[in-house]
Amino acid sequence: MNYTLITGASSGIGLELSKIFAKNNHNLVLIARTKKVLETLKKDFEKKYNVKVIVIAEDLTDLKSSVRIKNKLKNIKINILVNNAGFGDFGVFEKTNYETNESMINLNITTLTNLTRLFLDDLIETKGKIMNVASVAAFQPGPYMSVYFATKAYVLSFSEALSEELKGKVTVSCLCPGPTRTNFDKVANAKNLFKGKLPTAKDVAVYGYNSLMKGKVVAVHSLKFKLITQLNRITPRSIIRKIAGKINKG
Ligand SMILES: NC(=O)c1ccc[n+]([C@@H]2O[C@H](COP(=O)([O-])OP(=O)(O)OC[C@H]3O[C@@H](n4cnc5c(N)ncnc54)[C@H](OP(=O)(O)O)[C@@H]3O)[C@@H](O)[C@H]2O)c1
Repeated sequence: MNYTLITGASSGIGLELSKIFAKNNHNLVLIARTKKVLETLKKDFEKKYNVKVIVIAEDLTDLKSSVRIKNKLKNIKINILVNNAGFGDFGVFEKTNYETNESMINLNITTLTNLTRLFLDDLIETKGKIMNVASVAAFQPGPYMSVYFATKAYVLSFSEALSEELKGKVTVSCLCPGPTRTNFDKVANAKNLFKGKLPTAKDVAVYGYNSLMKGKVVAVHSLKFKLITQLNRITPRSIIRKIAGKINKG
């Protein structure tokens, strides 16, 4: 029996993706730290959609977590992997906490890479799919959120490279949301950057799911950010990083 594994399923975009996958009859492995929320989702989904749900509470900043997850799932096949869990941290680099930066790199980069590698045999065998959640932050350096932007640049580059290597074997799609109404800004201390009307987590999740099913390699959410990311390609980087710094500083 095949399962879709979703990290960061307890909140925001990951939670909405979990609902969509459940509605579309995918069995699920839901992962996050908050076990209580995951247990509630399991009950809901199994009752409403008649799918099987496995819940794993893990702190994915722990570099051994991906191997523990793989071992727990050795009797099932993962045919869709959604690497969604991630967080950011707003502020000048010299004031950041090095442990927070390290955790961010562990979660946003290392665990995402390890889960992809550890489940790749399953994904190839099932001609499966990978969705990696990056950000529009991936398209330029981000002064005042430098580590976060750099982690997302990694996710975009890694996903595009894999999509080419795995063509015909595994579909790889990189979802790049712009600012979205979730818990992200609270965790990142970036409330000032998230003012005004923003897309909901559901808007982004629906777009991400459809893009994955269509096999879109780079899926930038919203017309505004599609245009901005295209403009980035023809604008000198010296200008791009200045503009990004001004926007981030607020
Ligand atoms: N919201 C935005 O504006 C925006 C824009 C672009 C990209 N993104 C990206 O979208 C993805 C989802 O973020 P979101 O906006 O939905 O934020 P969110 O509401 O804060 O959700 C983050 C999810 O990741 C999980 N998570 C965080 N740290 C974890 C850890 N150490 N171990 C395991 N799970 C962990 C959280 O669950 P627990 O707390 O229960 O562990 C939660 O389920 C992230 O990769 C983010 O970078 C967000």
